[in-house]
Amino acid sequence: MKKILSVSLILACCFSAVAGNKNILPYKDASLPVEERVEDLLSRMTLDEKIAQLNQYSLGSNDNVNNNGEMVKVLPPEIGSLLYTADDAVSRNAMQKRAMEETRLGIPILFGYDTVHGYRTIYPIPLAQGASWNPDLAGEACRVAAQESYDVGIDWTFSPMVDVARDPRWGRVAEGYGEDPYLTSVFGASAVKAYQGDDMSEPGNIAACLKHYVGYGASEAGRDYVYTEISRQSLWSTYLPPFEAGVKAGAATLMSSFNDISGTPGSANHYTMTEILKEMWGHDGFVVGDWHAVKQLVTQGMAPDDATAVEYAINAGLDMDMTDNLYMPHLASLVESGRVSVDRIDDAVRRILRIKFRLGLFEHPYVEEKPENERILLPESLDVARRLAEETFVLLKNEEDVLPLKPGQKVALIGPMAKSQKDLLGSWHGRGLAEDVVSIFDGLSEVLTEAPAYAAGCGFEGDDRSGFDEAVKTASEADVVVLCLGERYSWSGENASRSTIALPEIQEDLLKAVKAAGKPVVVLLSNGRALDLTRISPLADAVLEIWQPGIMGGPAVASVLTGKTNPSGRLTVTFPYTTGQIPIYYCQRHPARDGSQGRYQDIPSTPMYEFGYGLSYTSYDYGTLTVSADSFTVNDTVTARVAVTNAGDMDGKETVQWYVCDPYSTITRPVKELKHFEKKLIPAGESCTFEFEIDPMRDLSYVNWKGERILEPGDYYIIVKDQKVCITLE
Ligand code: GLC
Repeated sequence: MKKILSVSLILACCFSAVAGNKNILPYKDASLPVEERVEDLLSRMTLDEKIAQLNQYSLGSNDNVNNNGEMVKVLPPEIGSLLYTADDAVSRNAMQKRAMEETRLGIPILFGYDTVHGYRTIYPIPLAQGASWNPDLAGEACRVAAQESYDVGIDWTFSPMVDVARDPRWGRVAEGYGEDPYLTSVFGASAVKAYQGDDMSEPGNIAACLKHYVGYGASEAGRDYVYTEISRQSLWSTYLPPFEAGVKAGAATLMSSFNDISGTPGSANHYTMTEILKEMWGHDGFVVGDWHAVKQLVTQGMAPDDATAVEYAINAGLDMDMTDNLYMPHLASLVESGRVSVDRIDDAVRRILRIKFRLGLFEHPYVEEKPENERILLPESLDVARRLAEETFVLLKNEEDVLPLKPGQKVALIGPMAKSQKDLLGSWHGRGLAEDVVSIFDGLSEVLTEAPAYAAGCGFEGDDRSGFDEAVKTASEADVVVLCLGERYSWSGENASRSTIALPEIQEDLLKAVKAAGKPVVVLLSNGRALDLTRISPLADAVLEIWQPGIMGGPAVASVLTGKTNPSGRLTVTFPYTTGQIPIYYCQRHPARDGSQGRYQDIPSTPMYEFGYGLSYTSYDYGTLTVSADSFTVNDTVTARVAVTNAGDMDGKETVQWYVCDPYSTITRPVKELKHFEKKLIPAGESCTFEFEIDPMRDLSYVNWKGERILEPGDYYIIVKDQKVCITLE
């Protein structure tokens, strides 16, 4: 009997588990499918409770000085989300406790934050990460960021930023992966998967947020918050692909953009937020507006008043209002007046609840309050940050192999960036602290037998040249000069547009003065955008672009300068010859006339350094590019191959970049488009074969202005370096 009883008891438990535990409300029953729980909870909510879920509050300003929210004195515990800026989980748990215990339904709050390139362990800015051409390694860094964020009580990061940008005057180029839609797609998808893991409800995983949806990178003349002229064709072929890739990677949320998309701001754009994202792509998460983006619809001349701005935003598909505090006061009356339907409110609430359930917040609303030394700046996290920084550096010039530095050389380390810590963090550095950063000086001092002789020379800008003499003296007494120039961390990022991409004149003058000392000069550049190097590169014997490398910048620089690490970075943004060439990017259309016609009459029309460029301490010989077939049908796969030999005496990582060119098509296509890349370590003297499995529909087609993918028969060129092979689609 006992045995039978136990079997029936087990069956009863299973039955109750399968059908839901009858003792608790369905939405609180984790054994039920998420959709059932969403519908059950939604059915229990009042209109006010639903509207509360559509609001994200902040506790005042966030990390961006120009974003100051009103200090909300008392946070209603029914709110959907809180922009969380505390340094530990204590206040998060306290706030969450109010939501779970003081509200009628106990709906957990979603805590969001800008973990953009690290939370406290700050790794290289995304523009640098792209230059590593190593999305897996960038993903490792995002895993660190997710864990540090999770441990402090953050459930949701406003990252990755996947805005394709081709105007380096725009400060936010620093936050994306560069000018190419495909590379941006690969890195964006890697970040999403790294943040969210396979199951968002697992500890250490956080929800991702693709931003800024869409076309923000096309900001007119590089200014911020402005109009963007984007044709439907450009929308589909340039700006949407990284978002589509991120959605396919499972991104839980997107953030609508500030910019006016050819007359309809991103935050009131039904075509992008509903027709494309939710209807064509089937995204079932939610869209949060950017900071005050709803309120800004009035400023942008879209809405006459706040209530109409709310009406336009929610009806266009903006599900959650970030810190405007406008949905709360206006939505109920808009529903009552019929300007907003209950169905639209329910759809938005459903989407937000769905993500909260998927995050497991109902089951584990609180976060373990770990001591700081168990959750931030862990050794393994620092190792990831260093390895990633090393792979982001791009060697732009290296005359006479002045790099790597030779053992025993007396090094002069000069320039405003040499001892800077905060500037190596870059913009949007989360809770990163300058004191965490190992400076270039400290990094080099750690590895050189004799610490470098140091002279600041000058500041980042201004006219004070009083330090030049000492700098020149320091240079003259050394065997080689490492001159550290670049941008302050605040010169890029949000609201950081610049009319010129040249460095301040005083930095260029310092280079001239130091060069006159007659010693080899290695210029290190730390910056958040492509720069005008026309007066810098010619005077330098070597130029190493280190971007804003994060807290392990110093050790990474030391490793590359001394040759312990062979630089492997490649540019993902074009470095124009000068500001006057902007916009200039590799995947431009063919001009109507070749040759010299139509070119600038006063400066070169080619860039200083092109997309994909970067040198190494070794050299790579490319074998003959081959294809498995030179004619094929849409159902075939064609394999392109090339063998690469490391012809030098130093191991190195080489990235083979595979481009496609469609020489003629119903709509004009770029001169070439990146469609695949792979980075591999090739030991000195050895060879590796790289392959590109060409899927015609994926790799050779284009998307037209209606979002339809079009593949046309005819010739296509597969391009690697200076080789190209023609393949013909029957
Ligand atoms: C900012 C930025 C956005 C950020 C948000 C929250 O204005 O545009 O990237 O995630 O506000 O801080």
